[in-house]
Amino acid sequence: MNDFKERIAAQLIAVRDRSLAYTEAEDDLLIRQHSPLMSPLVWDLAHVGNYEELWVLREAGGMTPLRPEIDDIYDAFKTPRKDRPSLPFLGPAEARRYIEGVRGRVLDVLDRVDLEGPSPLHRDGFVFGLVIQHEHQHDETMLATLQLSREPGLVREGELPPGRAGGPDEVHVPAGRFLMGTDTLPWAYDNERPATWVDLPGYWIDRLPVGNAAYAAFIEDGGYDDQRFWTPEGWQWRQRKGITAPLFWTREGGSWYRDRFGRTEPVPMDEPVQHVSWYEADAYARWAGKRLPTEPEWEKACGWDQEAGRARRYPWGESDPGPSLANLGHRAARPAPLGAYPGGASPYGAEQMIGDVWEWTSSWFQAYPGFRSFPYKEYSEVFFGEEYRVLRGGSWAADPAAVRTTFRNWDYPIRRQIFTGFRCARSELV
Ligand code: AVJ
Ligand code: FE
Repeated sequence: MNDFKERIAAQLIAVRDRSLAYTEAEDDLLIRQHSPLMSPLVWDLAHVGNYEELWVLREAGGMTPLRPEIDDIYDAFKTPRKDRPSLPFLGPAEARRYIEGVRGRVLDVLDRVDLEGPSPLHRDGFVFGLVIQHEHQHDETMLATLQLSREPGLVREGELPPGRAGGPDEVHVPAGRFLMGTDTLPWAYDNERPATWVDLPGYWIDRLPVGNAAYAAFIEDGGYDDQRFWTPEGWQWRQRKGITAPLFWTREGGSWYRDRFGRTEPVPMDEPVQHVSWYEADAYARWAGKRLPTEPEWEKACGWDQEAGRARRYPWGESDPGPSLANLGHRAARPAPLGAYPGGASPYGAEQMIGDVWEWTSSWFQAYPGFRSFPYKEYSEVFFGEEYRVLRGGSWAADPAAVRTTFRNWDYPIRRQIFTGFRCARSELV
């Protein structure tokens, strides 16, 4: 295998190690459905193997199905999450055997295919990038399941850099055109393409994500009880569900505590807030006299290098996200304190745009002009419309392979079991 293929093989191995580490628990915990919002962990595990079989072995490698009878069980469209516990899915030992069998053959396909040939699935290793990113995304989903399970001791903890006080609250992004999306990143998804010039008026965007202290002040100030801050749908959701704080927060003796992977701890006031829905983020922004950034505003502030007239892969440039640049890849099981990554600042001076928490934007998940679905409609296209809001930047639980300036995530505006926070923006006064 050449160097490029070796690097792909290493990434395949790394993501699989990660998935196996998240499914080391006892069988009962892997089979159980911890929340109707999530799949049993062992479903995710076999699903990533089945996806890998479908895309690498069958579509790119021309092989016949290994176990056609299980395909429907692992098709996310045929089986909504809430129905997954009642399926005859593979048990933990069988699931591990199945995905290992797929993986052995995948390495053979990698060895024999021409990554410079005419096939768009093979070219630049696209299909391998597809399955690597897919598995990392499911690994993040598994972490959300583990967080919901409240089972202690299953999740890794590491050191993060300290926070840093001071610095401006907002950074200014002058009016002008920038290139949104990409035509050149080989492993970008269809929804990130094609690159498009977007002209924006000037605006201000928060230098940092909204922190727990600021969010607690919103609660203290009655933000959850004042309808004026909420959209009609958001207010209805807040009323119906009796929402009064971020998910996993509780109040005791005048202080805030949170549940984090089965342990209760004081809410660290210097961390970005996480586990808030789009409705809560949107209400907070209105309370603060601001608004959520649009998706183009978020991307321009993150990656546009105005001087060079070029977009960067990451705010700091092209280099991989090392531990001093961003909190990605589950280094710890939490967002880093505010101000922890001065070296990760964007050309406009915005910090912590990559990693820590996914950030809600005000935009619906929509196709860019000239969008073409590739390699299948069910990754992106079927989700376009006015149902899902876009999230950007990746969380502490996201892997660098599936995070970049142009990467787009999306979810329902009520969702908050995912690792989401936000920052605010406001238009320039005219
Ligand atoms: C891009 C995170 C919204 O998990 O629903 C996983 C990614 N697509 N399997 C999801 C995905 C197919 C997707 N998100
Ligand atoms: Fe999937």
